[in-house]
Amino acid sequence: MLKLIGVETFYGKIKALHGVSMAVNKGQLVCLLGANGAGKTTILKTIFGIVEPEYGTIHFNDKRIDRKDPEEIIKLGISHVPENRRIFPELTVYENLMMGGFLIKDKDLFEKRFKKATDYFPVLLKRGNQQAGTLSGGEQQMLAIARALMLEPKLLLLDEPSLGLSPKLVQEIFSIIKDLHQSGVTILLVEQNVNHALKIADYGYVLTSGKIFLSGTYDELYEEEKVREMYLGEGKYTRRANLWSGIR
Ligand SMILES: Nc1ncnc2c1ncn2[C@@H]1O[C@H](COP(=O)(O)OP(=O)(O)O)[C@@H](O)[C@H]1O
Ligand SMILES: [Mg+2]
Repeated sequence: MLKLIGVETFYGKIKALHGVSMAVNKGQLVCLLGANGAGKTTILKTIFGIVEPEYGTIHFNDKRIDRKDPEEIIKLGISHVPENRRIFPELTVYENLMMGGFLIKDKDLFEKRFKKATDYFPVLLKRGNQQAGTLSGGEQQMLAIARALMLEPKLLLLDEPSLGLSPKLVQEIFSIIKDLHQSGVTILLVEQNVNHALKIADYGYVLTSGKIFLSGTYDELYEEEKVREMYLGEGKYTRRANLWSGIR
C-alpha cells in the first residue's frame, strides 16, 4: 500500500533522512522505532507532504505522492496524527471532529463516521461540548486520533501517541490502536515505546540517524542483540532489566 524508496529529506543543508526504504502492506500495523532525533517524525512528515524529499520516491497504492501536498494526500486516503496531539484547543470536542470531517459534504455520512469514530472513544461523546483545550492529555490524544478517523483513512500515520501519558493511559491508547488495527485500519505507528509498539505490530523498522538500521517481525527483532543493546539497555553482559519480559 505504501512504499518509500531511497527517500532523502533535508532541513536546509542538513540531511535528516539518508535513503530510507520501507513498506506498509494493506491491513498491517507497522511500527517505526528509534531514539529521539532519529528521523521518525521526518518520515511521517515526508509521507504526508509537509516536507518534500530531495531524492527518492513515495508510492501509495501505486501512485507517486512524493510531490503532492497534504491536501491532496488526505484526499487519497492518508490521515496524519502529528506529535503532541495538535487539536484546536479553543474549539469544542464536537467542533474538532467536524474539522476532521471537513471533506465530508453529506450529513448522513458525517453522522455515520462520527458515530464510528466516537465508538472507539466513548469519553469524547460525553464531552462533546467541552472546550478541547480543557481535556486531559490522554483525552486530547484520543480526540486527535478520532479526528483523523473521521475521514476513514486507508492509512493512518500516528506520531508517538503515547508520549507524555500516564502508564494507565498508555495501555489504553495501545489497546485502542490494536482495536483499530483489528478492525482493518492500516497503521504506521511511530514510537519510542519499543516494547508496547512491537507487541501489537506486525512488522517493525528501527531507525538510527536517518537510516533504517534493522527491520523485522517482533521475533526477528527480538533475536537481534543490537536492538536490545541499543534500545533496551541490555548488552551481552548487562542483561538485567529485561524490557521484553512479560510480553512474550
Ligand atoms: N524543522 C526542522 N529544522 C531543522 N532540523 C530539524 C527540523 N525538524 C527536525 N530536524 C532535525 O532532523 C532530525 C530528525 O528529527 P525528527 O524527525 O524530529 O526525529 P524523531 O521524530 O525521530 O525524534 C533531528 O536531528 C532534528 O534535529
Ligand atoms: Mg518525533
